[in-house]
Amino acid sequence: MSVGISLEGRVALVTGGASGIGRAAAVRLAEAGARVAVVDLDEAGGRETVERLHQVGGEAALIVGDVSLDRHVQSAVKRVVERFGRLDILFNNAGIIRRRTVLTLSEEDWDRVMAVNVKSIFLMSRAAIPVMQETAGRGSIINTGSGWGVTGGAEAVVYCASKAAVINMTRAMAIDHGPNGIRVNSVSPGDTDTGMLRQEARELGQPWALFESDSKDRPLARLGQPRDIADAVLFLASDLSVWVTGANIVVDGGGLAG
Ligand SMILES: NC(=O)c1ccc[n+]([C@@H]2O[C@H](COP(=O)([O-])OP(=O)(O)OC[C@H]3O[C@@H](n4cnc5c(N)ncnc54)[C@H](O)[C@@H]3O)[C@@H](O)[C@H]2O)c1
Repeated sequence: MSVGISLEGRVALVTGGASGIGRAAAVRLAEAGARVAVVDLDEAGGRETVERLHQVGGEAALIVGDVSLDRHVQSAVKRVVERFGRLDILFNNAGIIRRRTVLTLSEEDWDRVMAVNVKSIFLMSRAAIPVMQETAGRGSIINTGSGWGVTGGAEAVVYCASKAAVINMTRAMAIDHGPNGIRVNSVSPGDTDTGMLRQEARELGQPWALFESDSKDRPLARLGQPRDIADAVLFLASDLSVWVTGANIVVDGGGLAG
């Protein structure tokens, strides 16, 4: 008897899929049989992801664009439907961080983080939901939150604000769109070994080894790998989670547990 998760016939759009968690999720969804469109600003990284998707036998497309700009978002969703004919899964994952306090953060950086981390989810979902309803009759939207959307963190004020917004807008969207067959959930990673976390180490002037040693104090005693988060995304994308909406799944090796 197989309990394999199948996404055969489904189409997924993954934002921020050129690296880290987005890339790992794109690969995981493709391994389960989905056709995947990657939307990212980073063309070179996006090409590499598409190559990996082809390696696992998946049909894939790269759309280079900025998810904080409505014209890019609208054109991305249109291109997905032109290419694949439908849209079932939207992983709103693109995100950025600035390690600053209210006294050191610029207004420009406040606006940029809120635009990429929060406004993009509004824009993408606004473009995708009608298309999901028309082409698939239902849909699953997964938003990337963060442990720092649940608790506060040092020198990360706009990031914490943005991720708390992501987690609560997920609940609001679940209420609004559940009756139309659209499930909306968030995945909140803890420290995961990606370009973003390494950039944080540089921004704070801290050695990478400190991030690794800090993780040893948490219950599962290691940093997350992008694949750890991708497995939760796969669950939320699939029919194994058909009665799950408005949830925030924390995937952090127990970091928030105590
Ligand atoms: N790595 C962690 O420890 C961690 C922890 C909690 C939450 N997260 C969240 O996970 C998500 C993925 O981050 P990651 O760690 O994989 O980082 P990452 O930097 O490896 O990936 C982020 C991707 O988003 C893309 N991107 C950034 N701005 C964009 C824009 N305006 N339009 C399109 N694409 C854009 C980048 O080019 C990059 O490919 C983010 O939302 C992040 O906040 C990460």
